[in-house]
Amino acid sequence: MRILGIETSCDETAAAVVEDGGYRCAILSNVIASQVDLHAQYGGVFPEVASRAHVEAIAPVVEQALRDAHVGWDDLDAIAVTYGPGLPGSLLVGLNFAKGAALGKGLPLVPVNHLEAHLYAHWLRTEGDGALDDATPFPMLALIVSGGHTELILMHDHGRYTYLGGTLDDAAGEAFDKVARLLELGYPGGPAIEQAARQGNARAFDFPRAWLTGTHDFSFSGLKTAVLRTLQRFNGPRPPRFFADMAASFQAAVVEVLAEKTAQAAKAHGAQAVLLSGGVSANASLRTATRARVEVPVHTLPLILCTDNAAMVAAAGTYRYRAGVRAGWDLDIEPGLRLA
Ligand code: KG4
Ligand code: ZN
Repeated sequence: MRILGIETSCDETAAAVVEDGGYRCAILSNVIASQVDLHAQYGGVFPEVASRAHVEAIAPVVEQALRDAHVGWDDLDAIAVTYGPGLPGSLLVGLNFAKGAALGKGLPLVPVNHLEAHLYAHWLRTEGDGALDDATPFPMLALIVSGGHTELILMHDHGRYTYLGGTLDDAAGEAFDKVARLLELGYPGGPAIEQAARQGNARAFDFPRAWLTGTHDFSFSGLKTAVLRTLQRFNGPRPPRFFADMAASFQAAVVEVLAEKTAQAAKAHGAQAVLLSGGVSANASLRTATRARVEVPVHTLPLILCTDNAAMVAAAGTYRYRAGVRAGWDLDIEPGLRLA
C-alpha cells in the first residue's frame, strides 16, 4: 500500500510517498520546499506570504514526490492531507489540492492532524538511533516542540491520546525565534541560538525557569522578557562573548524545563518510552538533557523528520487509512484542531 502525503500547515510546502511496511513505513520520497528565505526578512512566518508561496509550489512539489518515488497516480492507494492545526490560508492550499487530486484520480482522502503527524514521524523507517520497533510497549509520552506547539501528549495506543499539558503562552520554538531576533542572530532562531550557544557559558546569566509545579504546562514569556531586560541593562559596551553567553543561558533555561517536565510526566503516567518530535527536538542539548533525566528509552528523529515534512503526514495517514478513516468531500480546514 502506498500513500501520498501533503503538508502545507505553516511555511513548508511538502509532499511525500510512503509504503506500508507493517509496523513502520518506508519513505519512497520526501520533498520539501522551504519558505525560510522568504520569511527571514520578517523574522517569522508571514501568513499571507506563506499561502501565496504554497499556491506556487504545491503542484511541482507533488509531481516531484511522485517522480522521486518512481510511482504514478495509479500506484497510489490514498492521499493523506493535513487539515489542522495551522495557518488557515496555508492549510487551505494543501487541502484543496488534495481534494482535487483525490477526486480527479478516484483516490480516497484521509484527513491528518498535524500534531499526530509529528508523532508518526517515529513510525517511519530510518537509520540510526532510537528507532521504535513493534516490541516498544505503550503508553508512550510524546513531547512535541515546534514553532507553533509545546505539548506533552500521552499516547495509549495508535489513535488514542491524552493531552497532559502545553504552553500557556509562547511555543518553545517561538521563544527561540523571538530571542534570536532580539540577539540579532537570524532566522530561524533555533539553529542560530544552538550554534551561538556552543561558544557561550550557560551559567553566565541566571534566567528564570517557569516550573508551574503540579501541572504539565509550560510558560516561556517571562524568560523572553528576562532576555530583553538583560539586553537593555547591557546596552553600553558589552563583555566579550556576551551574545554567546546570552544564547547559551537562554537555551539552558528552555532545555532544563522541557527535559525535567518531560521526565516528571513520563514517571507520573508510567510511560514506557519518550518520543521527541518537532523542530525544537533537533536541538542536541535538549536530546542530551532529556536522556539524562528520563528513565525509559528516549526516541529522537533525523533532523529532516523533526521539522515539518509530508512523510510524517503519510505515515499517520497510513495508520488512519488502515483504521478505516476517510474524509468526505466536505472536509474543511480546522486551524485550531487539537489532538486530545
Ligand atoms: O516543526 P517545525 O518545522 O514547524 C512547526 O510546526 O512550527 O519547527 C520549527 C521551529 C522553529 O521555531 C525553529 O527555530 C525551531 O523549530 N528549531 C530549533 C532547532 N531547529 C529548529 N529550535 C532549537 N534548536 C534547534 N536546533
Ligand atoms: Zn509542525
